[in-house]
Amino acid sequence: MRRPMVAGNWKMNGRRGMAAELAAAVAESAPRDIDVLLCPPFPYLSTVVDAVGDVGVTVGAQNLCAHSDGAFTGEVSGEMLAESGCTHVLVGHSERRSLFGETSAQVASKFRRAQDAGLVPILCLGETLDEREAGRTSEVLDGQLQPVFDEAGVEGLARAVIAYEPVWAIGTGRSATPEQAQETHAWLRARVSRESPEVAAGLLLLYGGSVKADNAASLFGQADIDGGLIGGASLEADSFLAICKAATAQQ
Ligand code: PGA
Repeated sequence: MRRPMVAGNWKMNGRRGMAAELAAAVAESAPRDIDVLLCPPFPYLSTVVDAVGDVGVTVGAQNLCAHSDGAFTGEVSGEMLAESGCTHVLVGHSERRSLFGETSAQVASKFRRAQDAGLVPILCLGETLDEREAGRTSEVLDGQLQPVFDEAGVEGLARAVIAYEPVWAIGTGRSATPEQAQETHAWLRARVSRESPEVAAGLLLLYGGSVKADNAASLFGQADIDGGLIGGASLEADSFLAICKAATAQQ
């Protein structure tokens, strides 16, 4: 049985006071029978770690350097994140790929680096609208996954989470329908199953892209959707907690 996860990706939003308040409010009321993860901006990681305390809400970063410590001005290493109290880190978010030019090969290096530093990578994958309309969704996802198989092997996915986030649904208010998301999640699980049925069966597959309190339950009710990666709706405690509750109801 896969334990659902709901992760909040705050992106580059908020200030320290908001981070502390939001994290404390989530920690106070988050359901205890799912995994709840908060991914604040780097400068607020320790604030959020302190605010959530030891109630079981965990903290992740939104990015890491593909290299270990060294002469990489402006970067943050996996070791630094782990020492700051992170358990997870997002890799390959679509904004990293499209705005900062990260390639799937670089994302795979970051995936590996995260694991070497003791973090659980949340590998973000997804197609653009043009790619979906051209019927290329599975080809695109395969192209994003293959470098991870090459770099970390299918065993790497035994210690990772995948977040499927169609680019056209991120921040647009236009979520994938539950059926569209389920179809893609089922494809992803089948793709991993070709490498290892055991890893595929245990793999957490999160959906992301305009998840809100009012569509979360129908998305999380799908057989291969194990929770969500939440952007906009994670910036407000009530909406994020309502989404967490929707994941609990699906167990
Ligand atoms: P959204 O963002 O929920 O605001 O669409 C999701 C994400 O980018 O992780």
